[in-house]
Amino acid sequence: MDSIVVTGNGPLKGQIPIAGAKNACLTLMPATLLSEEPLTLTNAPRLSDIKTMSTLLQSLGAEVTQMQGGKVLALSSHALDNHVADYDIVRKMRASILVLGPMLARAGHAVVSLPGGCAIGARPVDLHLKALEAMGAELDLREGYVHAKAPGGLRGGTFEFPIVSVGATENALMAATLAKGTTVLKNAAREPEIVDLAQCLRRMGAQIEGAGTSTITIQGVDRLGGATHPVVPDRIELGTYMLAPAICGGEVECLGGRIDLVQAFCERLNAAGVSVEETEHGLKVSRQNGRVRAVDVITEPFPGFPTDLQAQMMALMCTAEGTSVLEERIFENRFMHAPELMRMGARIDVQGGTATVTGVEHLKGAPVMATDLRASVSLILAGLAAEGETVVNRVYHLDRGYESVEEKLGNVGAKIERISGQ
Ligand code: EPZ
Repeated sequence: MDSIVVTGNGPLKGQIPIAGAKNACLTLMPATLLSEEPLTLTNAPRLSDIKTMSTLLQSLGAEVTQMQGGKVLALSSHALDNHVADYDIVRKMRASILVLGPMLARAGHAVVSLPGGCAIGARPVDLHLKALEAMGAELDLREGYVHAKAPGGLRGGTFEFPIVSVGATENALMAATLAKGTTVLKNAAREPEIVDLAQCLRRMGAQIEGAGTSTITIQGVDRLGGATHPVVPDRIELGTYMLAPAICGGEVECLGGRIDLVQAFCERLNAAGVSVEETEHGLKVSRQNGRVRAVDVITEPFPGFPTDLQAQMMALMCTAEGTSVLEERIFENRFMHAPELMRMGARIDVQGGTATVTGVEHLKGAPVMATDLRASVSLILAGLAAEGETVVNRVYHLDRGYESVEEKLGNVGAKIERISGQ
């Protein structure tokens, strides 16, 4: 297993290109199952999760061709010859559940393995299933698989999500495009990835109103066509790299970054004393001398502070002046980065879903363990600002969500290298 070695090297300066959003691409790709026509995604990120989704779609009979080194994905599923999404693939990546809605809507039946939990929580899919049942799906859970049927096709229905769920909103939105009649999704997720999916589906001929608000209305159509669609920039990668100059000092321009994707996050950065400026090419983040101020953070569904940036923000707060309280309201176990940061000298007290961080002047480099995707990158951020060398082990987590992180950070002056494991 590879490791990444980071050595504190002072302020950063330069530009970092922001890739297309992993979490948008992972829902845009299954949309190909809704149509016999080709779907082309541009600005796609080059990540292991995208490869996993490609493998899953190919196992169902879809064709997925990577072009321009993976930046363009050509997908088509004119013939779906297998309707079973196997546990072996699904267990590697929870987003695999997103083939359920489109496959059921297109073919009238689907068998998808339940994804199981992951490091940050139990991650149930009950809301995915309830939303599809509201559209007439008949579901049977057997031996760890969801057996779904819609013999006469799905029909429009109304479903109010008891809690906001990004994935369940995406599954229901895709299924509803081919349901007979009108579907209304209430308390729907408002994330930019939902807006991006709706834009792509509309390009394919879907009739959707309200994406990005809490109520989405979909008028089903008989069939969808093909489309070419650019993947929205990755707001989590953007926020992650905005924190690099915040924690190290210096000035970094994140190319392709858009302020509307990270409003709540930017408000917290500004409150901490970090300046964010919109430029012609993206967002420029700078922090000159002095420590940042400690600020409190509460994670919420969009447009609130994203849970996927909580670990990275905690790394910054570890070096802030004062005490910061971070409340994780989305997942039940998303503080695994805290003990690793404490190995670097951070002072963190975790009580249930709340972490209280008392900032220290300097963190000290140490060997640490990546536990999940966002925790791993928070350890790299901490290592950038720490005195001495930090070795982050198990960086396969990192490769799921960040394209060539050592190159992007190295190009702005970080001392970072990947050590290939056995
Ligand atoms: C998506 O996961 C993202 N993944 C996650 O990013 C992100 O953290 C999350 O949304 C929240 O923004 C992808 O888009 C591939 P949810 P998802 O359904 O859809 C509970 C990353 O690091 N829930 O919005 O699985 C759930 O347990 C990943 O890129 C149910 O109870 O998240 C959680 O507490 C991590 N029943 C809350 O809702 C359900 O049926 C929000 O989960 C579904 C979810």
